[in-house]
Amino acid sequence: MCGIIGCAGRDGDTLDVLVEGLSKLEYRGYDSAGVALSGADLDVCKCAGKIADLRSAVENRDLAGSVGIGHTRWSTHGPPTDENAHPHLDCTGDVAVVHNGIIENYQSLRDELATAGHRFKSDTDTEVVPHLIEDALADGADPESAVREAVGRLDGSYAVAVVVAGVDTVFAARNDSPLVLGLGEDAYYLASDVPAFRDHTDRVVYIDDGEFARIDGDGWTVSDESGAVVEKPVDTVEWDPEETGKSGYDHFMLKEIHEQPRALRQCLQGRVDELGGQVDIGDLGTLNPVAVQFVACGTSYHAALYGAEMFREVGIPAQAFLASEYATSPPPIGDAFVVGVTQSGETADTLSALREAGRRGARTLAVTNVVGSTAARECDHVLYIRAGPEIGVAASKTFASQQAALNLLSLATTNVTDGREIIAALRDLPGDIQEILDDSRAREIAKRYRDADAYFFIGRGYNYPVALEGALKMKEITYEHAEGFAAGELKHGPLALVTENTPVFAVVTGDDERATKTVGNVKEVEARDAPVVAVTDGESDVERYADHVLEIPAQHPRTTAVTANVQLQLVAYHTAALLGRSIDKPRHLAKSVTVE
Ligand code: M6R
Repeated sequence: MCGIIGCAGRDGDTLDVLVEGLSKLEYRGYDSAGVALSGADLDVCKCAGKIADLRSAVENRDLAGSVGIGHTRWSTHGPPTDENAHPHLDCTGDVAVVHNGIIENYQSLRDELATAGHRFKSDTDTEVVPHLIEDALADGADPESAVREAVGRLDGSYAVAVVVAGVDTVFAARNDSPLVLGLGEDAYYLASDVPAFRDHTDRVVYIDDGEFARIDGDGWTVSDESGAVVEKPVDTVEWDPEETGKSGYDHFMLKEIHEQPRALRQCLQGRVDELGGQVDIGDLGTLNPVAVQFVACGTSYHAALYGAEMFREVGIPAQAFLASEYATSPPPIGDAFVVGVTQSGETADTLSALREAGRRGARTLAVTNVVGSTAARECDHVLYIRAGPEIGVAASKTFASQQAALNLLSLATTNVTDGREIIAALRDLPGDIQEILDDSRAREIAKRYRDADAYFFIGRGYNYPVALEGALKMKEITYEHAEGFAAGELKHGPLALVTENTPVFAVVTGDDERATKTVGNVKEVEARDAPVVAVTDGESDVERYADHVLEIPAQHPRTTAVTANVQLQLVAYHTAALLGRSIDKPRHLAKSVTVE
């Protein structure tokens, strides 16, 4: 999704700070980029392509200014072209605007402005904003009032940042799209996400919907729609800027897969007491849910399916919903507690679902990684997964941490009979994962099947979401066809797709009825000549029917669903690497999907 950076008060290096900040937002996914600097004049440079293209473009220009804004664009209105890249200008060239989100009434505004004589150069919804500001300035408004007036005419979601020629201030506003200020010693920043300025400061102020912000060389202010100053808390970001580097790994995703033992330790630290068999997640432990509805998207939806299974297991009605469906076709909520699982805390579909649940009177909980994110601030409760920053677009360590955090939630709020055993297994997880990372045969499997026609994944119970996640990882970073199925569903249709060139990854753990039945499904696949890769703890006899085995330590079924997934992450990663794909920034995808 689009990324915004703005800065004021830098000593002669505004351009470098903007471009470097944009490079830290690359992980969000984008297809063009640009900057605008305001000094006596306004200078703009923008282009389709990558930050490297922007770097080359700015090298040939003499761009200067004491304040500036920058943007990475992920196309919604119009293709990725130089003209559609942000910043966008008004007719005079004195107002530059960058925007994240979607302006829903842009067409009527554009028609009105065009009729009044404004000339448009792009296909974007954003371009109406500088022209609205231009009109307000022409009517005598000061720059801040002009921005307020323009923003007041917008319907939809936006974070906007604006600079005006000859004015040493960056103006910004937010509605439904993230925006955060960074407070340096003598310089101030704004961005859609903290990594953009984390090298310069760890002190941040989160802007809320309906608020306006301004930064200049002397400081910052936040105000509400009426213009009244809002006292905002200043938070400190705890993670180190080094965490957003690759630390010698070829890709962020590989680094993040390897960070899982540490991420899980962080998630569990201070929250589990193995000896006493207790879990402490603060007030959340007193929630006592009678029913639970999970809402989430993508990988987080798979974590939600896993979470729902845990509550059902102890007799509490629980269901996971795709947030995009829930938002527009909500089920009856009754007394259900609604849990939004979202790594970023900014996914528009998940926020809509949570808001819908809130409007219907439900209590809501955000299970998220990002402190201060919109979900964290809007929900009644929050449970942080503490995975640390995840830069690769493909979620890896955050999935494992979501699984661990949902275990904590279920242990703290329900009467689980084997609680002690689960806590012990959770404690062992970092070590179990390290064992897999040190000794996985995933690369060998990836090499063997890199030219497969398609990849299928099957699992039951806790392993069903693992099968879905294995397939999602494979498709998003290899661009190859991959599907995950509940093991029992294979024979109801998908079996027709199975051939000797479609490996089937079967996640089979434990030796209960679920394992026995899944082994039966594996035999059905084997009888049709498809190669079988069993991801197993060796408790069942699946190895007899499998062509290859990816081993995981035998443990509680809840945690083998975490370790099995690590093997599948590695298979997807190595397949993508062998195919030469863009692993950290897969085509068409964005890390944080802030449009519905
Ligand atoms: O930030 P969220 O967890 O709400 O993101 C939801 C999905 O967009 C996300 O999980 C996506 O599916 C993953 N990046 C895929 O690896």
